[in-house]
Amino acid sequence: MPFKALVGPVIIAHRGGSLEVPENTMASLRHGVAVGADWQELDVTLTKDNKLIVIHDDTLERTTDGSGQVITKNLDELRKLHAGEPKWADYVVDRLAKLGIDAPSFAGKYPNERLPTLDEVLRIEGAQLMIEMKAHPDPKALAFATVDAVHAANMGGRVVLASFEAPVLLQANLRDSSLPLLGLAEDVKGIETMLRLPISVLGVSVELAEEALRMTPQGIAVWIWTVYTPQEARRLAELGVHGIITDAPTPVLAEIRKEPVDLMVER
Ligand code: G3P
Ligand code: CA
Repeated sequence: MPFKALVGPVIIAHRGGSLEVPENTMASLRHGVAVGADWQELDVTLTKDNKLIVIHDDTLERTTDGSGQVITKNLDELRKLHAGEPKWADYVVDRLAKLGIDAPSFAGKYPNERLPTLDEVLRIEGAQLMIEMKAHPDPKALAFATVDAVHAANMGGRVVLASFEAPVLLQANLRDSSLPLLGLAEDVKGIETMLRLPISVLGVSVELAEEALRMTPQGIAVWIWTVYTPQEARRLAELGVHGIITDAPTPVLAEIRKEPVDLMVER
């Protein structure tokens, strides 16, 4: 039997692939699995009544038809909101414009999407999840709740717990040191901070890829966010990064996996 080796970086569908399906919804996270992304990235925080909800921003205006701070609302209230027609953040619009990409409109196409709970996402068939725990006033509550949800879903082998917040990562590690951690960093100082923690993966922006590869010891993977084009993905793969976090998983997978290597194993 030929053995198919995976050559090159793993592909992570950012927010499920937010250029293809509305971000951080059940539709997008299922989409990430369906198109063959190795991992699906999502953002999680706690509601006022301490339930885990999947949303990127601190506030509701950009990605739902609600308003106000997420952490001041109970889960029941949040679950009534429509999440299938997010607006684009200004920095994404700028980035896409520079790349000559039109930000797609999802208007009317996903009328039934709500903000998912983490429990729902953990039940998606075939998912491997990069769960980004957002900044929260109570890092312990967020980290412990996330670890406990992963345990309850028996998903320990199929998650990596990510954060920009060192206290959140440390609390997750205290709760269960067997779960892999991914430290996110925005600059060199941030990389240094994360490399002092027991992380398995370092996550940095495209601009920091070379620096991160230089600074990171063997045994810690380097994943890069956020990649919008197959050309950028190819360049990063050739640089030797270990993971590509992309909003466009379909064309990126087509580019990165177009030449699979078959190794015949002699018996
Ligand atoms: O995967 C890391 C990336 O998601 C961090 O940035 O703002 O999209 O959560 P953000
Ligand atoms: Ca994120």
